[in-house]
Amino acid sequence: MTTASFGVLVGLLLAQLAVYCVGLSVSVGDSLTLPCHGDPSRDVEWRFQQYEYPEWLLVAELHTGSFSQGCGFQGRVESFYLTEPGNYSLTLSPVVYSDLGIYKCRYMDGIILSDVKLEIRGPSSVPVAMGNSASLPCFGNINIQARADDLDILWMRGGEKVYQLHKNTIAYGPRFENRASVSPEQALYGNMSLTIRQTRFSDEGKYQCFYSSPKESGNPDSVRLLVTGHPPQNLTVEAGGLLSIPLYTADPVRVTFSAGLGSDEVLMLDANKGPARYGERCAQRCELLAQNYTLLLWSVTLEDAGVYKVTDPETNKTISSVSLEVSAPPLSAGAVAGIVLGVLGVLGVLGVLGVVLLVLGPFAFWKFLKKLAKPVVRYQAASAEDQNDSSSRAAVILIPDSPEPFLLGRYGSCSPRIRSPHVRIGSFSHRTPSPRVRNKSFSHRTPSPRV
Ligand SMILES: *[C@@H]1O[C@H](CO)[C@@H](O)[C@H](O)[C@H]1NC(C)=O
Ligand SMILES: *[C@@H]1O[C@H](CO)[C@@H](O)[C@H](O)[C@H]1NC(C)=O
Ligand SMILES: *[C@@H]1O[C@H](CO)[C@@H](O)[C@H](O)[C@H]1NC(C)=O
Ligand SMILES: *[C@@H]1O[C@H](CO)[C@@H](O)[C@H](O)[C@H]1NC(C)=O
Ligand SMILES: *[C@@H]1O[C@H](CO)[C@@H](O)[C@H](O)[C@H]1NC(C)=O
Repeated sequence: MTTASFGVLVGLLLAQLAVYCVGLSVSVGDSLTLPCHGDPSRDVEWRFQQYEYPEWLLVAELHTGSFSQGCGFQGRVESFYLTEPGNYSLTLSPVVYSDLGIYKCRYMDGIILSDVKLEIRGPSSVPVAMGNSASLPCFGNINIQARADDLDILWMRGGEKVYQLHKNTIAYGPRFENRASVSPEQALYGNMSLTIRQTRFSDEGKYQCFYSSPKESGNPDSVRLLVTGHPPQNLTVEAGGLLSIPLYTADPVRVTFSAGLGSDEVLMLDANKGPARYGERCAQRCELLAQNYTLLLWSVTLEDAGVYKVTDPETNKTISSVSLEVSAPPLSAGAVAGIVLGVLGVLGVLGVLGVVLLVLGPFAFWKFLKKLAKPVVRYQAASAEDQNDSSSRAAVILIPDSPEPFLLGRYGSCSPRIRSPHVRIGSFSHRTPSPRVRNKSFSHRTPSPRV
């Protein structure tokens, strides 16, 4: 072998090495391009070896002037070598699990242009909001002839069984009773993904999937489940209204209340494998809707404003929180109507009173004037007498509280000016009868001739 030919060989090997070892990771359902470049105007084909199967299946033939697709790839492969001479890259869309394996692009005479290993890109971790369902991916080459009762699938977490389907019988790990499942229909097509319902923080961890006997690792061979809390909520409830706190689980769960930063946390609800326990704040006002994963707080007051924290007692992680503001209740339609009616009523009463006053006022005034007229006239008459009688009046003032009920009653209804003569009663009782008293009683009985 000459140095030149050795050099060519090394060059060829390096070229071969360059096209080899292309590994592509893909998610099932995605699309991807398998790269390949060569001389224009040559006949090229793509072949494929499925994992653990010996045959090299045809994917596509890229002949000068014609393009054909292999069985199982119809409608899913595409190439632009006719418009871009020499670009024999193949676009595969959508990728299905059975596409995983080794792809080779080569001239019809056997020289390989490119070699691609297609692997599934399993998400290294699956996030889920606590309480929601999570799907952990796992795929495997299930025999196309397999029937449901041939399925043998095992899911593990850290050495503990989570779920097993074997000979049509399902077995659960202790914490996953009726929460974990694999779809048998999907499994027959190689999709052994595990669904976990009502996820809890304690479900977090690294899960592994196995199938067949002897056990084979699925693809991806492990996936981590991450359980997250729910975003905090701000709520405003009217005083007297109803607060609804989402718990995202029925049990185990704990709800605490804090009036604000720095305030103590007080227990509202503690449900942990047993009858729910209610805190003092909750007493008589709380209702746990276990089916709806909801805690109701009735008749909210201004003191209920604050932060309600929902936690998982198993891990002490926060599931969610609700910041509550309590607003004053607006006036109800009934109250507004009541107030309007009340105001109208008052106005109405005032109106009626006004009308009554308008009607009766002049009459009353006339009556009053009429009533007044007599005594005034009389008083004038009497006052004239008073001038002379001042000494007797002074004497009367010195003797108060003279008991004269008869006379008092008689003059009780009179105006002070008219009543003033009653003082003279004393003078009547203690002294010689005043001529004015006589005068008065007289004038009261008969209209004064001077009117
Ligand atoms: C070759 O074709 C593929 C599509 O099949 C395209 O994505 C890629 O960019 C092309 N490469 C070049 C170098 O033109
Ligand atoms: C695999 O099966 C699960 C149900 O177990 C389904 O939700 C998921 O979409 C399936 N994945 C694919 C790629 O078909
Ligand atoms: C809730 O209120 C706080 C302040 O009171 C605010 O910082 C936060 O953004 C609010 N969150 C939402 C979801 O509105
Ligand atoms: C609770 O859920 C049930 C059905 O699951 C529904 O009928 C009921 O209305 C819900 N109650 C509340 C208060 O949301
Ligand atoms: C959670 O916190 C309580 C006290 O607040 C403590 O007694 C308990 O051990 C904690 N549990 C865990 C799992 O950390």
